[in-house]
Amino acid sequence: MIRSILFVCLGNICRSPSAEGVVRAKAEKRGLDLVLDSAGTAGWHIGKPPYLPMQSAAKARGYDLSALRARQVSPKDFRDFDLIVAMDADNVAQLDAMRLPDGKARLMLFTDALVDDHDGFVPDPYYTRDFEGTLDLVERCAEALLDQIDAGAAARGAGSAP
Ligand code: 4NP
Repeated sequence: MIRSILFVCLGNICRSPSAEGVVRAKAEKRGLDLVLDSAGTAGWHIGKPPYLPMQSAAKARGYDLSALRARQVSPKDFRDFDLIVAMDADNVAQLDAMRLPDGKARLMLFTDALVDDHDGFVPDPYYTRDFEGTLDLVERCAEALLDQIDAGAAARGAGSAP
């Protein structure tokens, strides 16, 4: 069962806080009780709220990210969460390198939740400046991930989709 999810990107000020906020809103609508958090592989923005242009774009769609604060991912997160959802392959590589032997968390790319995944990663709007495109993709991935969790696919065990 997936009860807790940690979303991870590089800075924890654009993609992963957006994923956390979008999944939180959509999970609440579905009546799903999930523990959600986000973190960055880098520690550059620890304690900072999400990037303002990202917050504004999210707010316009009804997602309030203002209370979130950046933190850096830690090996302990592999013990504390059931599922760690990364935004791109660099995040996955960094996370793989810090995984503890007894860390139970499964690790996946957010876009792996999509059946029609053509890109294979969530592009970083800090560089692309395409905040709307990021939110479009995050919303699609969020629905797909929650569909899988709703369907109980999580019970299939390690190695399968959640
Ligand atoms: P994020 O985007 O990984 O989606 O939070 C970034 C935010 C900040 C930086 C890089 C990526 N930065 O270099 O400060």
